[in-house]
Amino acid sequence: MTTVRFGPEHSGMLLALWNSAVPHDTMSAALFHEKVFTDVAVDETLRIASFEGAKALGFAVGCRRSTTANAGSIKLFAVSERARRSGVGSALVNRIEAELFAAGATKIRIGESPPNYLQPGVDRRYVQTMAFLEALGYVEFAQTYNMDVNLADADLDTATEELRLHDIGFEISAASANSADPLRRFIDSVFPAWRGEVDAALANPAPSVYFCSRENTVVGFAALDGNNRGTGWFGPMGTAPEHRGLGIGEVLLKRALSDIRDRGHNTAIIPWVGPVPFYERTVRAYVSRTFARMEKSIGNAI
Ligand SMILES: CC(C)(COP(=O)(O)OP(=O)(O)OC[C@H]1O[C@@H](n2cnc3c(N)ncnc32)[C@H](O)[C@@H]1OP(=O)(O)O)[C@@H](O)C(=O)NCCC(=O)NCCS
Repeated sequence: MTTVRFGPEHSGMLLALWNSAVPHDTMSAALFHEKVFTDVAVDETLRIASFEGAKALGFAVGCRRSTTANAGSIKLFAVSERARRSGVGSALVNRIEAELFAAGATKIRIGESPPNYLQPGVDRRYVQTMAFLEALGYVEFAQTYNMDVNLADADLDTATEELRLHDIGFEISAASANSADPLRRFIDSVFPAWRGEVDAALANPAPSVYFCSRENTVVGFAALDGNNRGTGWFGPMGTAPEHRGLGIGEVLLKRALSDIRDRGHNTAIIPWVGPVPFYERTVRAYVSRTFARMEKSIGNAI
């Protein structure tokens, strides 16, 4: 077995491996490329694959960014079914860990590499993966959810609510080049952790952010396609604390979901939730996936 860095020339082979090894998270070639080759925090030392002759046995992708300070993450890893339980997975993960710890990370999280991430943790249905990570010294520190919305029968009409908001001074708009700067200032001051996903959404060819303003001041937003582009990915969204309870979030959510429907999706994904009852009440979203959030600190290295 040889373990080497991989490049775009290996994408077809590694994506095929991924799609058979990780069945709840199959990716298109475009999405694989977005995850692996467009993230500035994923450099060539963090893209490694193991081969036996010309056959890929497994691969892993690390990232020099996570959701907490001084942390890195492991964005993707998979070993083909026929090569399991022979040390391939641990060799790959150990190598990414060594790279990240040597560069100063004190913690590594699984999957958590926003703004560019595939899933916010380990889907509990991957029982083998949970056992593997525990064997390598990872511990679960929280749980999170993805919710789905069935768009085919969702009532996303906001006309009456938008009139009501207009009467009390609030306007709902789709972001354009002109509104991008005030929107970014709002994100930086109220929701700084979401700047990357909002920037990615603003960079899309079609407007992918809706916002609410009052007297030319942004007070809330909802984005789509800011990560996992083309999959029906909603979010992030947020309303400034002083303007909550007026129905602004519900209107922004419905505008963004309606846009996802217009792009041809039957289902929208609301990832890494968050306020489950809000989404359930407003658009009948339901919990579709449960993730264990897992991490390893340098002191627990095995
Ligand atoms: C998780 C995965 C990478 C493990 O790869 P692997 O090459 O089989 O792992 P290793 O052989 O290095 O296993 C190391 C240790 O992990 C534990 N482990 C691995 N698979 C296990 C299983 N099925 N049951 C129990 N423990 C397991 C064991 O302690 C094992 O050591 P041992 O074989 O000496 O007992 C592989 O099962 C896989 O590709 N799963 C899908 C990947 C996935 O879910 N990716 C999504 C997250 S990004």
